[in-house]
Amino acid sequence: MPCPGEHSVPAELGVTLSLSKGERPGVAITTQVPQAVLDVLRQHADVLDVSSRAHAEWNAALATATGVLVSSAIPIDAAFLDAAPNLKIVATWSVGYDNVDLDALRERGIVLTNTSGSLVETVADLTYALVIFAMRNLTQGLNWVRSGRWMQGNMPFGHDLEGATLGIVGFGQIGLAVAKRAQCSGMRVIYSNRTARPDDAQTGASYRAFDGLLAEADCVVLLVPLTPQTRGMFNDAQFAKMKPTAALVNVARGQVVDTAALVRALEQKKIAGAALDVTDPEPLPADHPLVGRDDVLIVPHVGSATYETRARMAMLAAQNLIAFFTGQPLPTPVTLPVA
Ligand code: DGY
Repeated sequence: MPCPGEHSVPAELGVTLSLSKGERPGVAITTQVPQAVLDVLRQHADVLDVSSRAHAEWNAALATATGVLVSSAIPIDAAFLDAAPNLKIVATWSVGYDNVDLDALRERGIVLTNTSGSLVETVADLTYALVIFAMRNLTQGLNWVRSGRWMQGNMPFGHDLEGATLGIVGFGQIGLAVAKRAQCSGMRVIYSNRTARPDDAQTGASYRAFDGLLAEADCVVLLVPLTPQTRGMFNDAQFAKMKPTAALVNVARGQVVDTAALVRALEQKKIAGAALDVTDPEPLPADHPLVGRDDVLIVPHVGSATYETRARMAMLAAQNLIAFFTGQPLPTPVTLPVA
C-alpha cells in the first residue's frame, strides 16, 4: 500500500489531504476498540486513543486529528467539529449515523464512513429474540420467577408465533434476515417501506401501506433509520391503529417512537407489550415508567453487541480510515446530502 501523502485520498471524494512527505495522519479514537484494531491503525497513522478519557478531555487529540473513529453515542456536531479543525474523515463504528450533522460535514469537506453490512445477522438475531420475548410474554414470566411468584396465581401465557403476523416497518437487509427467522417459526410476514419491493415472491413477505400493517400485525418491528421523516412516526395515532393484543419491538432508534405515547398505549392497553433495544432517552432513568413493567422488555442498545460483530465493525471502521489515507476506495462510505 502507498504511504499517506498529498495525493493519497480517493480522488472521487473531492477532498484533499495535505500531509507533507513522511508525515503521518493523526487519528483520534473516542470509543474503546479492540487492541487488534489499534495495532492495524498504528501501521498507517499516529493513533491517539482518548476513549478512556472524559469527553471534555478530548480536545487536544481532536486538535491534531485528520481522522476520528467514533461511536454512535457521541454527537458529531458543530462543537465536536470546531475542536477538530484538521479533520478530513469521520469513521463511525455503527451503521446508523443520526448522531452526525451531515450538513456540517459537507460544508467542511469531511468524509463520513459507517459499518454498513457488518451486523445484519447479529441484529436480526436480537430482533427475533425480542419478537419471541414480546409475543410469549416472557418479561412477565421472568419477573414472576424473580419475585418468587412461581406457581402462585395464573401462569403468564403468551401467543403462538406460528400463524401470527409479523409486521416489519423498514424492510431492508436486517428486515429480510428477521423475516427468514420468523418464517421458520411459521409466521406470516408483511412489511411497510416507502414503496413495495420487487421481490415479494422470493422473500415471501407482502407489502402493506403503513396503516394497513399496523391494523394487521400481531407484532410490529421497527427497523427504519432515524431521519426527519421517521422521528416520532409512532405516536398516539399509530398505537390506536394497532391490535390491542399486538406488541411493539423497536430495534431502530428510540426517537422513532414517542416515548410518552408508548407509556400511554401500554397503560391504556391499546397494545399488549413492547420489547425495546433502543429508547428515548437513552439510557432511560431507572425510575422511568417503562422500566420494571411486566409487559415491557428493555435491553441497553445491544443489537450488534457481540464480541465477534463489534470487532468486525471496529476493523471495518479502521479499514475505512486506512483506505482514505492510502488513496484506496472506501469500503463503506456514506453519501452526504447535497446542499
Ligand atoms: C448501529 O450500528 O447503528 C447500532 O445501532 C449501534 O449504534
